[in-house]
Amino acid sequence: MEVIICANEQQVGRIAASRIADSLGRRESPVMGLATGSSPLGTYAALKERVDDGTLDLGRAQFFALDEYWGLSSDHPNSYAETIRATFTEPLGIDPARVHVPSGDADDVDAACDAYEQAISAAGGIDVQILGIGSNGHIGFNEPGSSFTSRTRMKTLTARTRADNARFFGPDFVPTHCVTQGLGTIMGAGRLVLTALGAAKADAIAAAVEGPVSAMCPASILQFHRYATVVVDEAAGAKLQLKDYYRDSFALLPSSRRPH
Ligand code: F6R
Repeated sequence: MEVIICANEQQVGRIAASRIADSLGRRESPVMGLATGSSPLGTYAALKERVDDGTLDLGRAQFFALDEYWGLSSDHPNSYAETIRATFTEPLGIDPARVHVPSGDADDVDAACDAYEQAISAAGGIDVQILGIGSNGHIGFNEPGSSFTSRTRMKTLTARTRADNARFFGPDFVPTHCVTQGLGTIMGAGRLVLTALGAAKADAIAAAVEGPVSAMCPASILQFHRYATVVVDEAAGAKLQLKDYYRDSFALLPSSRRPH
């Protein structure tokens, strides 16, 4: 696993975008997995800079979001479909027809989840998946205890995730359920790029990167991925034991592997 500790959010976004652009650049019709929430916003801003200056062409790319709240239609202001539209699709000038988000209100949720998996396969699989991490170690909405082989399905949100995400909703209403890509789905991506910001993520990052691989910390499955990059700010990386090693590794990267 590549672990990069950055001075600030802007640098986290720039370095994550560089790793993402490297992965996408290799395919004619690349496929990117999108995350929602606050963590990827700097990455999306840095990707936008590349699109605007012509160094990254996403014109033929397809996009698959990680997850959606169950019970929200795609035009609900707090749906992840709407968040992806406002924070990614519109600012980067992406054709909305190329952006897929799991349905939060399908009549047959199991069939919709299977169809989502099939759409990812039909697109050729995800080349690079952007990830955030919950304070409880979730990725996507794969809460602690999630199967490492899980595919897209409905899950119940933990009380902690609902409390963490209450800031996006009124005090009375945070959805109890979601539809999320599974850990097996996420692990099928060619590269994983996880970003984390702030002290509230320090325990989760330490457990994911240096703890035992365990369903109790779903993000720890990244230790089994061949190409996983974790980009954190100082606060999110504060509890990593091998901080000095990660800093040395980054400083000593050969020029061909340096973020650009
Ligand atoms: C969202 C997602 C979640 C978030 C995580 C962190 O699509 O998959 O795993 O990445 O809950 O959220 P933020 O970035 O808001 O702290």
